[in-house]
Amino acid sequence: MTVIEFKDFKWHYFEREEHDLQGVNLKIKKGEFVGLLGPSGSGKTAFCYSIMGVVPHLSQGRVKGGKVIIDGLDTQDSSIGELSSRVGIIMQSPKSQLTGAGLTIEEEVAFGLENTGVPRSEMGKRIKSVLKRVGLYELRKRSPFEVSGGQMQKVGIASVLVLEPKILILDEPTGYLDPGGTEAVFSLVKKLNNQGKTIIIVTHKLEYLARYADRIILFNNGRVVRDGSPQEILSDTKLLKRNKIDPLPVTLLGEALKKKRKWKQELPITVKEAVEGLRKVVK
Ligand SMILES: Nc1ncnc2c1ncn2[C@@H]1O[C@H](COP(=O)(O)OP(=O)(O)O)[C@@H](O)[C@H]1O
Ligand SMILES: [Mg+2]
Repeated sequence: MTVIEFKDFKWHYFEREEHDLQGVNLKIKKGEFVGLLGPSGSGKTAFCYSIMGVVPHLSQGRVKGGKVIIDGLDTQDSSIGELSSRVGIIMQSPKSQLTGAGLTIEEEVAFGLENTGVPRSEMGKRIKSVLKRVGLYELRKRSPFEVSGGQMQKVGIASVLVLEPKILILDEPTGYLDPGGTEAVFSLVKKLNNQGKTIIIVTHKLEYLARYADRIILFNNGRVVRDGSPQEILSDTKLLKRNKIDPLPVTLLGEALKKKRKWKQELPITVKEAVEGLRKVVK
């Protein structure tokens, strides 16, 4: 089932000369885990905003053509409110996402539910279940500002999840996190994906996309340059370099061995594949 569809969508920020999304065409199915790659300024955030209706409703610019359909709703004819029950977004800075309205993590997560018409009795249940799902239940009485970056990002995720969106967008969610926080966020996101959520994640951390994504969409200049499996995209070192992305060290290792005719199989994108390939090389 298609939950996101871009039909030749073109978007232009007023201040810019060029279009920022230049005719994007693609479909994303329910339950897919999609990674977005591309150099800075290539349109990744504009793409995410177009899914949740920030483009066109809250951004200074104009739709120059095409449509975006989210779970059956045309974003241009729908309000941000309607879309927000289907799509939730988590941004790079965990702190800036906190409303500060709640003294505790529990209150912070509750805040998003306040104006949604969910009955009080139901609210408590939902909050408890979401806090358990993201692993914050034990910390629920703590201040959201006094936990680690990874945990703070989980508060952001919980605040979005409590609204029960089908689609979760994460725009560089681990940009400010240390390796432990990054791992925690990615494994939580994968768990949510296994439970059926559609995931769209912008990240430069290729090693996590190699492990978790079903599909990678590479953007440049507001266009989809390539759309394929992690293996297809991450092993194409020329494509990555052309688009200002550093290939993974394990892939470069395989490539170096291939030049010496020692590597016969597909280039590795994970440490596991590199180890398996190296066994054949040293045999
Ligand atoms: N609010 C805005 N007003 C004008 N131009 C913008 C605005 N936001 C982004 N842009 C421009 O749109 C292009 C795409 O930006 P963006 O989607 O943020 O790229 P990315 O997320 O890939 O770094 C960039 O050239 C950027 O400078
Ligand atoms: Mg961005």
